[in-house]
Formats: sequence, C-alpha cells, structure tokens
Amino acid sequence: TLKSAILGIGIGVPSKILTNFDLEKMVDTSDEWITERTGIKERRILEDGENISKYAIKASLEALERAKVSPEEINLIICATLTPDYLIPSLSVLVQEGIRAHNAGAFDLSATCSGFIYGLAVADQFIKNNPDWKILVIGAEALSRKTNWEDRTTCILFGDGAGAVVIGKSPEPEKRGIIDFILGTDGSQWHLLTLKGGGSCFPPFDKRLPKEEYYIKMQGREVFKIAVKMMEKVSLELLERTGLTTEDIKLLVPHQANLRIIEYLREKLNLPKEKVYINIHKYGNTSAASIPIALYEAELEGKIQKGDLVLLVAFGGGFTFGGALLRW
Ligand code: ACO
Repeated sequence: TLKSAILGIGIGVPSKILTNFDLEKMVDTSDEWITERTGIKERRILEDGENISKYAIKASLEALERAKVSPEEINLIICATLTPDYLIPSLSVLVQEGIRAHNAGAFDLSATCSGFIYGLAVADQFIKNNPDWKILVIGAEALSRKTNWEDRTTCILFGDGAGAVVIGKSPEPEKRGIIDFILGTDGSQWHLLTLKGGGSCFPPFDKRLPKEEYYIKMQGREVFKIAVKMMEKVSLELLERTGLTTEDIKLLVPHQANLRIIEYLREKLNLPKEKVYINIHKYGNTSAASIPIALYEAELEGKIQKGDLVLLVAFGGGFTFGGALLRW
C-alpha cells in the first residue's frame, strides 16, 4: 500500500527570549499567574527588523538535510500561517526563493492553530496521486506582530517560530507513515477569537475599526471550554476509525495553547504523563508552528522512535480543529 511519511523535520526559532518576568514590566501580571494558568514560562520573539520567513527557511533547510532531499526535488511548498511576512507574496513563495526550490509550486494555507495538520492532510493527498513527489509542509508564525502588548489576557500567550517537514512516499509503509486524518471546522462561534483588521472588510487604517481590532482578540474562557471538548472528540473519533486505542499511542503531541487544556485532554484520554509531549513552557502558543516544533523536540529527546504511533491534535481560531495519526 502507498502511504506518505515524514522523511525529515527541522525548526527555526528566534533567539530572543521574552520571559514572564519581562511581561511583569509591561502589563499588570505575574510570573505566578501565567505559570499557573497557562504553563508558559517564556516565549521566543522576533527582533525588530527580523521576519518569520528567515525561520521558515531555516526550518525547511534543516528538514531537507535530514530527509536527504535537495531543494530542486521539492514539487510543492505548503506554508500554514496566519502571520505571513506580506500578503503578496505569500510566505511559501519567500521560502521557495530562500531555499532555491526551482521546481516547486507554493501556496499558503490559512487554518489558524490547526494549520500544520491541514497542511499534512493536503500533502498526503498529493502524495497519493503523485507518489514520487516531495512536499515541504511548514508551520510558521510571527504572532508577536499581531499581539496587543497592552492586553494582559492575550499578550502572555503567544510566541514566534517555525517548523517544517518533508513529506514523501513512505519507504516502509507497514511500519512508517501517515495513517489517517480528521479535519473539522465550526464557524458558528467565530466571534470568540478574531483578528479583523487588515482583512478586506476593514483594510489598514480604516477609521471605523478600533485599534485593538488590528490584533488577536480572544474570549479565553469560552475558547478554552470548546478547545478541550473538540480535541477530545477528534482524538477519540480518529482512534475509533482506525481501530486503535489510547493504549497503542506512544506519544500524544497536541497543539501547545495552554498546559491546562493539555492536562484535561490527557485525563480524558486516560494517558500517563510520559505519553504526552509538552514544551509550552519554552515557546508559548506558536499557532501553526507548535506541533512541528514539538515533534522535532520529542524526537531529539528520544521520546519517539521509528515506527512509534503518534497522535497529533489541534484546535484554533475559526474554529478549526484536526487530528492526525501516524507511525513515526
Ligand atoms: N495576569 C493576571 N491576571 C489576569 C491575566 C494576566 N495575564 N489575564 C487575565 N487575568 C485575570 C482576568 O482579568 C480575570 O480576573 P477577574 O476574575 O477579576 O475578572 C481572571 O484573571 C481570570 O481570567 P480568565 O480569562 O477566566 O482566566 P482563564 O483561567 O480562563 O485563563 C486563558 C485565560 C489563559 C486565556 C485561557 O482561557 C486560555 O488558555 N484559553 C484558550 C486559549 C486557546 O486555546 N486558544 C486557541 C488557540 S489560539 C489561536 O488560534 C491563535
């Protein structure tokens, strides 16, 4: 059987660190509150003048090197992001130029924090129709540029970074590869998490829109409840559909939005602590970049090895949600 698989993975994160103690000097908050309510201790932030394309390119080059695939062999670049450098050109095109992938098509994909899983699902379909293709799937975000640094309910949450994978035909389809996906949306409550300014409804400098609407706005408590519910639902549906159980899972790699969301999910799925990967304390919520950064570090720390069953699950603005089951 034909299966797609992750052939290589890489990351790129800014070196500038913003700690909870730094935030204490910017808004009325404390390291204790942030740690207790979110699990976050610090996050990476772009320096002035830096752009996220730099890190998307860095992540892509590392993924290519580890997959032993050259840039010319890449047929398609899919960049999941809600914070591209520009609207034109797309971030994926900047990556195409940056890595010199002269034979690649390239487009950005907008699915908020679930974007990386959506990107994997799209790549999987392409591989099934074009088994010899090699595809770069990137999650890259510069959330610091869309953060309202005067709003203590959101500015403590977000960070910047990028992760990339090379997807291709699995060399050992019985042992390695992507097994199944679930993609979902619920637009009925979109108003709970928005970034309105800069879209075509309210173009830049539109005087009708208050300044804070040019940044990410969120009703955190409401979003929290829906996130927990949907991430559990997706995980259980995916396992049921594939005839697998939570016991088969070697590692759950969830989107890193809030430690308490991850803890709830862990309890609902009845997983021991060592089967859930967490690095939110170092990066905060990096939206579409969080899962590939977490996968990369999980492998580096030896928490996943070839053939292990990994469950990815994400939830984000829209709302969008998604899950993927794969053998590493
Ligand atoms: N420091 C100190 N106090 C604070 C802070 C802060 N940074 N932020 C809020 N508070 C206060 C509030 O004002 C409130 O005070 P009150 O009780 O006097 O009104 C109190 O703390 C509790 O506020 P809540 O909003 O109820 O806090 P909660 O425990 O829900 O935590 C949080 C807030 C962290 C935002 C949480 O709700 C959350 O993580 N939500 C989900 C985020 C998520 O998953 N988003 C989806 C992905 S994001 C994307 O797609 C871009």
